[in-house]
Amino acid sequence: MYDMTKMNLIAKTAIDQMPPASRFNQEDALTIDKYTEALLSWGPELVQRFYDTVFEHEATKKVFRHDERPMREKSLTDFWVKTLTEPIDLDYFGWMAMVGLIHVVRGVDNPMMLAMSSFLTDFISEKVSQEPSIAPEEALKVVNAFRRFSSTISAIITYGYDSARVNALFDIIGMEESLLQRLTKQTVEKHLNQAGYTMTEKRNFVAR
Ligand code: HEM
Repeated sequence: MYDMTKMNLIAKTAIDQMPPASRFNQEDALTIDKYTEALLSWGPELVQRFYDTVFEHEATKKVFRHDERPMREKSLTDFWVKTLTEPIDLDYFGWMAMVGLIHVVRGVDNPMMLAMSSFLTDFISEKVSQEPSIAPEEALKVVNAFRRFSSTISAIITYGYDSARVNALFDIIGMEESLLQRLTKQTVEKHLNQAGYTMTEKRNFVAR
């Protein structure tokens, strides 16, 4: 069962695997706080361009029902307001893990999520550089804060997807995670061997 304790654990496990310098941090939160007003004012354009982007591409467009766009724009608007006005802490990241899983059910896969997470950073980078009230060295801080924000939510979303698959396999056939991991490694190694890669005694691969 998914509850917030489980979601926070998924988020924490993913974050713990990231080198600290790559994670969203307290200073990033303070940087974002300083520019909340400008960032909030970019919300409508962000939402418009986000959905123009996913609706312009067949693979992402077909995720949506024909009448769904207004509802989805509302979800993303709420996401943006929450991100800018509430603490970005473990509960927030746990919520992101849950949001990630909601996408899994709709067939939104990791490449789509990672692409749009990166879209967010690009958007901020473009807007910040055109904003006269933000000095260039501050602009860089804002962009870096959002880059780490995107990396962190991407890590959580992809890890959440992996966990969902592991859980599904356990629920359906009772396969334990450790066994799944061992079998995955063995199978990948076998296929790499067939593709011409050999594992050396030092446990690294060399091409034959
Ligand atoms: C960084 C990327 C993204 C963020 C932050 C995001 C955020 C959100 C949020 C907050 C919700 C509402 C969840 C809820 O009901 O509580 C949502 C729902 C949804 N999003 Fe996204 N989204 C992202 C990427 C995408 C992409 C790439 C697609 C499709 C190509 C997509 C399609 C959807 C759909 C179909 C729903 C409705 C899910 C449902 O309730 O059935 N999203 N999204």
